[in-house]
Amino acid sequence: MVSRLCNVGRIGRLLGMPVPREIFQAAIDQDGLVATLGPEFDSLGTRYSGKVRDNFSRDGRRTIIVSDRVSAFDVVLGTIPYKGQVLNGLASYWFAQTKQLVENHVLEVPDAQAMHTVECTPIPVEIVVRGFLTGVSSTSIWTAYERGERTFCGHQLPDGMRKHQRLARNIVTPSTKAKKGDHDHNVSRDELIADGVVTAELFAELEQKALQVFAFGQQLAASRGLLLVDTKYEFGRRPDGEVVLIDEIHTPDSSRYWFADTYEQAMSKGHDPRSLDKEFLRRWLVSQGFRGDGNPPTLPDELRVEAAMRYVETFERVTGQAFAPDTEAAIPRLRRRLGVAG
Ligand SMILES: Nc1ncnc2c1ncn2[C@@H]1O[C@H](COP(=O)(O)OP(=O)(O)OP(=O)(O)O)[C@@H](O)[C@H]1O
Ligand SMILES: [Mg+2]
Repeated sequence: MVSRLCNVGRIGRLLGMPVPREIFQAAIDQDGLVATLGPEFDSLGTRYSGKVRDNFSRDGRRTIIVSDRVSAFDVVLGTIPYKGQVLNGLASYWFAQTKQLVENHVLEVPDAQAMHTVECTPIPVEIVVRGFLTGVSSTSIWTAYERGERTFCGHQLPDGMRKHQRLARNIVTPSTKAKKGDHDHNVSRDELIADGVVTAELFAELEQKALQVFAFGQQLAASRGLLLVDTKYEFGRRPDGEVVLIDEIHTPDSSRYWFADTYEQAMSKGHDPRSLDKEFLRRWLVSQGFRGDGNPPTLPDELRVEAAMRYVETFERVTGQAFAPDTEAAIPRLRRRLGVAG
């Protein structure tokens, strides 16, 4: 049954009906996931591989293929079935929803796992927007606040705030992208301008666009019972001069979501809010003694299936649409859809 299903392409589903576990297990068993893309994909252009996505640039077009790789603590851990489709699906969804507000790089979505985009000149700063005092990494706002810092990326923070508390307003806390393998670091508007990374005018434009898209994202998320907590945007200049959103938007790899209904309760009890992100995977890694240093543990299949179900849940919660997995083996499917000869 399952192996037959795995050759029929997209499976139609109803919202609220879980994707059967067997579908995920079958993708693992049949080696249908995208871990790496072979050299034949280089016909799409010059390759740049990040931890999760493979980018190919040629003639003003950048094709972004979202692999099934998963990373945590800045380390690639392995693959999760259908993660690439979920992430590409979420980014496509949000780009479509927000394009009236702020234009973006999308040209076409030729496959569930890939996007053709306009090659832009990236603006070399990550525009992080935060609505809450949270986070556990070395660069997060809560980590700084807990250390006693009351100025974060140029923003003053009052004393007496609690972990996970909503900020008085959404703020932009830029971060400069580290070279591959290094961690990013936080900067203020004034530093970026003084260092000549952006002009005051450009910063104002980025800030305004980011806050607008973020506020819209928070509203839409609220209508689905979610809090959009924080996110990271990247902007680039299109050949026509317009500053547009590039990269990805509001995916679980770039954003944090919490469930709205249990937020107040969690806060009053001093618990962490229930989240829709990679916390599940991080917790498991920590339970195995891994926090980013040394070799990561091998992800058991059961955990990969569980993680896949959570990614699908995220897609459906956020979009309000049923996730319809394309179950055709990914590599031959991508080759055909993107016109990559074998
Ligand atoms: N339309 C675009 N034009 C030009 N550059 C783009 C466009 N979209 C994304 N980029 C850039 O492509 C790169 C994509 O890298 P990617 O996110 O895959 O890996 P990374 O950022 O190096 O690492 P990580 O896996 O941690 O995100 C980013 O530097 C991003 O700014
Ligand atoms: Mg990136």
